[in-house]
Amino acid sequence: IKAKSVEELNKKAAVMIAGQMLEKPDSVLGFATGSSPLGTYAELIRLYQEGTIDFSQVTTFNLDEYVGLGKDHSQSYHYFMKENLFSKVNIKEENTHIPSGVAADATAECRRYEEAIGAAGGVDLQLLGLGRNGHIGFNEPDSIFGKETSVVKLTESTIEANTRFFDSSAEVPKEAISMGIGTIMKARKILLIAYGADKKEAIEKLLSGEVSPQMPASILQLHPQTTIIYAD
Ligand code: GLP
Repeated sequence: IKAKSVEELNKKAAVMIAGQMLEKPDSVLGFATGSSPLGTYAELIRLYQEGTIDFSQVTTFNLDEYVGLGKDHSQSYHYFMKENLFSKVNIKEENTHIPSGVAADATAECRRYEEAIGAAGGVDLQLLGLGRNGHIGFNEPDSIFGKETSVVKLTESTIEANTRFFDSSAEVPKEAISMGIGTIMKARKILLIAYGADKKEAIEKLLSGEVSPQMPASILQLHPQTTIIYAD
């Protein structure tokens, strides 16, 4: 779906998530961070405030978290979700899941996270943003598609893109825990949103390029229930 504006994109994305929640009040939603979903979250908050949607039975799993950043770090994805959505709707904290970036054993944390998604019955609808280099979650271009939740190294391009949120590039974590491409592809439905000049090339490759782990999002072409909403 090509939206005419970012406002229209935000509305369409929120309507799709709200539709999922109305159809199944105890939906398992996969959420994303980054600037792209901010407007969608603002729309969801508005729909909640006007009484259209209810988060009391919803369970969420976020895509990723930076290694080394605790829940209270202002750039952690835990903090982002609390600030931009969770503290503004009636979701139960115990129903929200984000990998821990400060677990003593990161590999065990990845396994635990993957199992928790399975125990919850899998993700009904996964929201995704798109990295400039085509990454989804923090699955960077690679020679293979990473299967499960794992510790991943961030590329220079991602570190550079995310430096705007930190005082300097040196402060951007170099690793993250991310759902794998396999984890993402298991979601029953996927909704990817992307817009802006710096995403144009990645959006084009996603829509009509070849499926390749060098362009991680391209695998979505093989998912039977994927919606892509984009704008200039
Ligand atoms: C980060 C996140 C991704 C996100 C991407 C794009 O690296 N891990 O999940 O999609 O950035 O971010 P933005 O929406 O700010 O462009």
